[in-house]
Amino acid sequence: MPSSLTLGTLALIAFTNTVSADGSDKRGLCFVPNKEHPEDNQIWVQPGSDLTWYYNYQESPSSAYSNLSQEEFEFVPMMWGVGNNPSDTSFLKSVRSLIEGGTNITHVLGFNEPDAQADWGGSNVDPETAAKAWVANFEPLGKMGVKLGLPAVTGGWDGLPWLEQFLGNCSEIVSEETGATTNCTWDFLPIHWYDNFEGLASHIGSRRAVWPDAEIWITEYAYANQDIQPTEDFYTQTENYFDRLAYVGRYTYFGAFRSYTSNVGPNAVFLNNDGELTTIGVEYLGLNGTGVSPTSAAGLGASMSKRLALAGALGVLAWVVL
Ligand SMILES: *[C@@H]1O[C@H](CO)[C@@H](O)[C@H](O)[C@H]1NC(C)=O
Ligand SMILES: *[C@@H]1O[C@H](CO)[C@@H](O)[C@H](O)[C@H]1NC(C)=O
Ligand SMILES: *[C@@H]1O[C@H](CO)[C@@H](O)[C@H](O)[C@H]1NC(C)=O
Ligand SMILES: *[C@@H]1O[C@H](CO)[C@@H](O)[C@H](O)[C@H]1NC(C)=O
Ligand SMILES: *[C@@H]1O[C@H](CO)[C@@H](O)[C@H](O)[C@H]1NC(C)=O
Repeated sequence: MPSSLTLGTLALIAFTNTVSADGSDKRGLCFVPNKEHPEDNQIWVQPGSDLTWYYNYQESPSSAYSNLSQEEFEFVPMMWGVGNNPSDTSFLKSVRSLIEGGTNITHVLGFNEPDAQADWGGSNVDPETAAKAWVANFEPLGKMGVKLGLPAVTGGWDGLPWLEQFLGNCSEIVSEETGATTNCTWDFLPIHWYDNFEGLASHIGSRRAVWPDAEIWITEYAYANQDIQPTEDFYTQTENYFDRLAYVGRYTYFGAFRSYTSNVGPNAVFLNNDGELTTIGVEYLGLNGTGVSPTSAAGLGASMSKRLALAGALGVLAWVVL
């Protein structure tokens, strides 16, 4: 859903900020391809970018990065959701064929927000079904030495109970090989968060209270729908925090898109309306230089945001007519 821009945000705010280069090999790309501007897809892998890995919510690598090796830009497959048949092993087969074809897949990600409805971007899977699909697809990969990331539940209150029921169901599954009940195995715990820093730290703490040795991956995060200053302050705080904490294995900020297409607010993004890196974008990629204001615009981005702004000001009719 595009963000609504007001006429006020159209003014080019002369906001720039000098940032220093600070690399991190934990940092990756939560890839949201831009069909309208495919050139944006190459911004994340430009020379000097700190980003070492990506996921795209799918089991297969993105064509935009097919000319990069795993060593250059590591792809981490995800099984987004579960279809009608939880015993279906399409995901397992896909990942196996990637590995057999010479792609060095070392990590995979479980279901995306299974505790959320499709309307909210969730895969909406009940814990019992998810456990069956996990045993069919993930356990065999674990035996092959691939590291397994648990399903990434939302940051909401339903997340932890969902995970506990998922693991509870896993421990009732009888192994076909041994006939004994087994638990699901996993190597790291992905989390999602869209509120302030204190909430994020407390959220991670609550997970570590249940699983004290868990390696944490933050696979979606941003301080959504905030003014520019708190948005940037949150970014800086989390970057320092994640880089410092040994138990944070990896992280991917949710903002690799242009401001006018954002569903987490116009300020949380890596690109302005014209595809130029924002302060957060420059910092996340570990580049030198200055970023632009997220809501600044020119060219096609400007005409798009002008349409959005006028549509907002004049009502829906304007959107259709303009
Ligand atoms: C940023 O500048 C520093 C100091 O001049 C330099 O060492 C580093 O290579 C530069 N990084 C990039 C990505 O250009
Ligand atoms: C990879 O392909 C893209 C086009 O899909 C191109 O823009 C990019 O420069 C290529 N990168 C390398 C390292 O060859
Ligand atoms: C695959 O990648 C891992 C991690 O980078 C590395 O340790 C391993 O040697 C690689 N395996 C192959 C077959 O290249
Ligand atoms: C298994 O999951 C279902 C929901 O799908 C839940 O009602 C049940 O309590 C779970 N079982 C265990 C042992 O956690
Ligand atoms: C499965 O996990 C439960 C809860 O952590 C534990 O009590 C049980 O011993 C585990 N079973 C196996 C077979 O590892």
